[in-house]
Amino acid sequence: MTGRVIEIVERKRDGAKLSPEEIDRIVLGFTKGEVPDHQMAAFLMAVVWRGMDDEETAWLTDSMVRSGKRLDLSRYGRVVDKHSTGGIGDKVTLVVAPLVAACGAPVAKMSGRGLGITGGTLDKLESFRGYRVDLTTKELMAQLGRIGIVVTGQTAELAPADGLMYALRDATGTVPSIPLIASSIMSKKIAAGAHAVVLDVKVGAGAFMRTVREARTLARLMVAIGEAHGLDVTAELTAMDAPLGNAVGNSLEVAEAIATLRGSGPDDLREVVLSAGAEMLYLARRARTRAAGRAMLERAIADGSGLAKLRQLVASQGGDARMVDDPGRLPRAKRVHTLAAVRTAYVARLDASVVGLASVRLGAGREKKGDPIDHATGVVLRAKVGDRVAKGEPYAEVHANGRTGDAEAIEMVQRAFTWGRAAVAPPKLVLGRIASA
Ligand code: URA
Repeated sequence: MTGRVIEIVERKRDGAKLSPEEIDRIVLGFTKGEVPDHQMAAFLMAVVWRGMDDEETAWLTDSMVRSGKRLDLSRYGRVVDKHSTGGIGDKVTLVVAPLVAACGAPVAKMSGRGLGITGGTLDKLESFRGYRVDLTTKELMAQLGRIGIVVTGQTAELAPADGLMYALRDATGTVPSIPLIASSIMSKKIAAGAHAVVLDVKVGAGAFMRTVREARTLARLMVAIGEAHGLDVTAELTAMDAPLGNAVGNSLEVAEAIATLRGSGPDDLREVVLSAGAEMLYLARRARTRAAGRAMLERAIADGSGLAKLRQLVASQGGDARMVDDPGRLPRAKRVHTLAAVRTAYVARLDASVVGLASVRLGAGREKKGDPIDHATGVVLRAKVGDRVAKGEPYAEVHANGRTGDAEAIEMVQRAFTWGRAAVAPPKLVLGRIASA
């Protein structure tokens, strides 16, 4: 007995545990257009407040997977995927996916767009003029077979319930909920057909998960859901109090990713890439140990094969691959405002969320789904936590294109920095790992 949809909503509102049939009724009904937005929105808000236990979350994920197709990629070998819960300056996919593919593990990755203060891989990739993010399933499979890597948008056939629910969550304040985030991410990963997934669960001021405790709960849940669907999953908890790397903003981040593939990127980005990449190679059974995987990735940076794989990926998806060799061709902002230190001091704190907000003001991110973005604008941090900046030296650049929000963005970047008199140690980056295998 599944009851009427209104009864299911009321039961969750009152804190009851729902059955798999009730969850199917609401999720599959919503996907078919039988359950209206207002009822789904009320249901989502009830989940935000009342939560779901692990079993219900697994059933919810399962319904979302069954709302569409599940790809079978077995003919390509052990395919590996990665997913980040979203952060500021997070361009890890742009570096790690080509490196791992260059080491022989097929990578099929369906990415998303940036929303609010967190950037999205698809927007970054579209900095390459012409890059297509709308491959069909047939094109995706053909490219995976041909070059061993694909990074595209989610097709409408895969977990369509997630796309529809996410749009509603975004408009109704119902994004921050562990069961909703876990089912959203894992339904996409399961439907997309990879055999192994590395999840980068961001923790800190610039992430959905503000504490290690919350992040661990989300990570454990996602690992268990993946495992129940036959996937090998590892979740890494990584710090997101300060932005990752120095660049925030689409083409600025692409340029930094290219520099990292050339061996000259920032240390924090390189560290998160090597950690996630080693895990991907280990789960894909291309490396016997994580240490061996790390060594393979370091070789793929040193011999240029990772960069060559990015060039191949961009060209194959219709992008201007000349931009990989000459990042000067990427979109560039009209003005660069340099911020200089008013006195000699150490960077004590750098608030990722404020830098993220500044980048949205500059046009690099979107306030709401569907807003256009400016690929050229953003922020480059010339100093990070622990660095000493002498009076008059630059600590940040603001790349702007003459919007009304530019002055406010500059003020925000200034405010994102907290200065101190004494040196502080740079923060730890990898805060924990939870693995199914
Ligand atoms: N990323 C997703 O794909 N879904 C969420 O709900 C949150 C982050």
